[in-house]
Amino acid sequence: MDGNGRWAKAHHRPRAFGHKAGMNNVKTITKIASKLGVKVLTLYAFSTENWRRPTDEVNYLMQLPIDFFNTFIPELMAQNVKVNVMGFLDQLPEKTLAVTKKAMAETANNTGMILNFALNYGSRAEITSAVQSIATDVAAGKLATNQITDDLISARLMTASLGEFADPDLLIRTSGELRLSNFLLWQLAYSEFFFTDVHWPDFSEKEFDQAIDSYNHRDRRFGGLK
Ligand code: FPP
Repeated sequence: MDGNGRWAKAHHRPRAFGHKAGMNNVKTITKIASKLGVKVLTLYAFSTENWRRPTDEVNYLMQLPIDFFNTFIPELMAQNVKVNVMGFLDQLPEKTLAVTKKAMAETANNTGMILNFALNYGSRAEITSAVQSIATDVAAGKLATNQITDDLISARLMTASLGEFADPDLLIRTSGELRLSNFLLWQLAYSEFFFTDVHWPDFSEKEFDQAIDSYNHRDRRFGGLK
C-alpha cells in the first residue's frame, strides 16, 4: 500500500494525513475484495524496516490498527470477514497488539474472506526464523535433512495458516515503485505482478478491476508448458 506520503504531499498536507486516507481506503478495498469473492487479501501495513522512520510517524502508524479495528469490526462481521495479523507481533506496542488480538478473536468464526495484515513483517526475517526453527529440529534429531522440503519450509512461514492460499495469485503494488521491498519473497515465486502509478489512497474499484482483468489475461505455466 505504497504512496501515502506522496499522496499527502500532493495535497499539501502532512504525511499522517496520507496514512489516515490510506487506512480509510483499506476499508473500501476490503469491502470490494470481499464482495468479489477474494479468498485472502494480504495488506503490507508495516515492515520490519519501517521502524527507521521518524518516531512521530511510527507512532502514528502504530495507532492506525487501533483506529481501524475500533471503527470497522461491525462491518467486518457483517461481511463475514476473518482477520489475521502476521509479523513479529511481540515487538508491537502493547495497545496495538491488544487490539489486533481482539480483532482476530472476534472474527475467528467468520468463514468469508481472510483479511490478512502484514504488520512488522519482513520476508528475510521470516525466512531466517524458519531456517532457525528447522535447524533446531535437525540438531535435536527430530528432523532429517532429507525431510526439508518446499512444503516443510512453507509450513514454517507466517503464511502457513492460510493453507492452500499461502502463495498469492496476484501481487499489486501502488505508487509506481517496481520492487518487492522484502514482501513474501518465498511465497511470490509464481505470483502474477501488477504495478500501478496510482497512490494507495486513490487506488479504487476501477484500478482493482484493471488489476484483476490483467491477471485474468495471464498465462500461468508455473515453469511448465501448456
Ligand atoms: C507506504 O507509503 C505505506 C505505509 C508504510 C503504511 C501503510 C499503512 C496504511 C495504508 C494504513 C494501514 C491500516 C491499517 C488498518 C493497519 P509511504 O509512507 O512509504 O508513502 P511514500 O512512499 O509516498 O512516502
